[in-house]
Amino acid sequence: MPLGIYPGSFDPVTNGHLDIISRASTIFDQIIVAIAMDNNKDTLFTVDERKDMLINVTQSYPNVTVEVFSGLLIDYAERKGAAGIIRGLRAVSDFEYEMQLAAMNKKMAEKCETIFFTTSTEYSFLSSSIIKQVAALGGCVSGLVPEIVELSLRKKFLTNEEA
Ligand code: COA
Repeated sequence: MPLGIYPGSFDPVTNGHLDIISRASTIFDQIIVAIAMDNNKDTLFTVDERKDMLINVTQSYPNVTVEVFSGLLIDYAERKGAAGIIRGLRAVSDFEYEMQLAAMNKKMAEKCETIFFTTSTEYSFLSSSIIKQVAALGGCVSGLVPEIVELSLRKKFLTNEEA
């Protein structure tokens, strides 16, 4: 499969996301990890911070690049000529939302396919929000996020405390 787009808010990227990127990179010739500007979320990290962290943690995958997009995912995917949209499924609870996204994208562009990867069980409980909550309260997130993300979280919450 030539090009896959892995979209998300990545606030911040976790080892669960990386697990999907790593596995998808063996199936797709090329992957764009695409940070969505329009995601209805208040984010902790700026888009540039999220992009820098993603670039850093994906540098060992030569067929993975990182971009930011605004507007509809489907328009962006079409502009890029993507063969499919990559999403991860962690648990049954993800299913309904993911089906809705995939079906809406399909409705807007018949040719658009969404390819789901089941998240590895050791990361099935992970989300960016739970990582932020644990880190904000001084908990240990080691092994759940890349080291650079752990450091960035520490810095962010230290700065927020000082402010
Ligand atoms: N490991 C760890 N966490 C995972 C995960 C995995 N494998 N897979 C999903 N998650 C978590 C994320 O950390 C995130 O957690 P959070 O809610 O605590 O931040 C959550 O699951 C889902 O977030 P994400 O995958 O980033 O998707 P999203 O719901 O924020 O955004 C987009 C989904 C970007 C695809 C969607 O908003 C979009 O397409 N936006 C563009 C505008 C558009 O086209 N809208 C119409 C869509 S039909």
